[in-house]
Amino acid sequence: MHPRLPLFPEQASTMAPRVDLLYFFLIAVSLFFGVLIATLLVSFAIRFRRRPGDSIPPIIHGSTVLELTWTIIPFSLAMVIFLWGAWLFFAMSRPPDNAHEVFVVGKQWMWKLQHLEGRREINELHVPIGQAVKLTMTSEDVIHSFYVPAFRMKADVVPGRYTTAWFEATRVGEYHLFCAEYCGTSHSGMIGRIVVMEPADYQAWLSQNAPNPTGLLAPGGAQPASLSPAAAGEALFHDRGCTSCHQPQGGALGPSLVGIYGKRVKLQDGSEVVVDDAYLRESILHPTAKVVAGFQPVMPTFQGQLDEEQVLQLIQYIKSLQPSGTESSGGVAAAHAGAAEPAS
Ligand code: CUA
Repeated sequence: MHPRLPLFPEQASTMAPRVDLLYFFLIAVSLFFGVLIATLLVSFAIRFRRRPGDSIPPIIHGSTVLELTWTIIPFSLAMVIFLWGAWLFFAMSRPPDNAHEVFVVGKQWMWKLQHLEGRREINELHVPIGQAVKLTMTSEDVIHSFYVPAFRMKADVVPGRYTTAWFEATRVGEYHLFCAEYCGTSHSGMIGRIVVMEPADYQAWLSQNAPNPTGLLAPGGAQPASLSPAAAGEALFHDRGCTSCHQPQGGALGPSLVGIYGKRVKLQDGSEVVVDDAYLRESILHPTAKVVAGFQPVMPTFQGQLDEEQVLQLIQYIKSLQPSGTESSGGVAAAHAGAAEPAS
């Protein structure tokens, strides 16, 4: 696109050339009109300058053709920019279904990442080339922003909610990761790198025994580094006594969680809610906010008792709970059927 202009970061994702193209279009349009207006300004100033004698110009009444022209052209241009931008925006916000999942927790002042299979990283993310990677992100404290200029990707990482972003790297190499939202004293130090590898190298990296960063990540310290988020969530689910109320067959105190992910459930007030990451997170931290119909608001809050990584792990575990007969990665879940609809 642009011949080695050092003003621009490398194009290293499928999105990068598309974002740049729109950007260059905007620059071209701005340049065109900037030059046009400046030229007209100067030439009109000269051509219609005051001359001795004829100081009163002829009166001009409106011109429909002229007015239509200067309405339709800018309108069309604005619509092109809008539609093009919206198209790109949708492409950037919808990760492909086969995307490799990575969970990101921002924290003053570091990035904690975990692959779906369990591999953890701090301030580094290793990914294979040519594979879509979906990030599910949240923050332990304040607003951060996950920014990889070479991928033309930037997304806020917000406490109390999940944001997602995705990219597909197209070039092997190492790329800067920045925090792009001022988040306190060491904001500028909240940096890292994305390492894009050939698929074979990536597999080798995955299987090699990297130094175990668990001690840094989980002060509780019990989890081996290779435990997948769902498996860690399963352990937590039992540790915290969730099983006493959320039995697979459903109980008097709490609904069964088997197969609920992605489903709609009825609430006490008659409304419905889709069971997604955000709803599960809310139900763990603010259990009385949206109580499923047929149950009492008796669940204690886990606010302050679980960190964001643990909440993510619980969600991954609940996601993995599928009634038998369907594919299950959860293990436990496969044994229990018939509890897909938790509403009474
Ligand atoms: Cu985190 Cu700035």
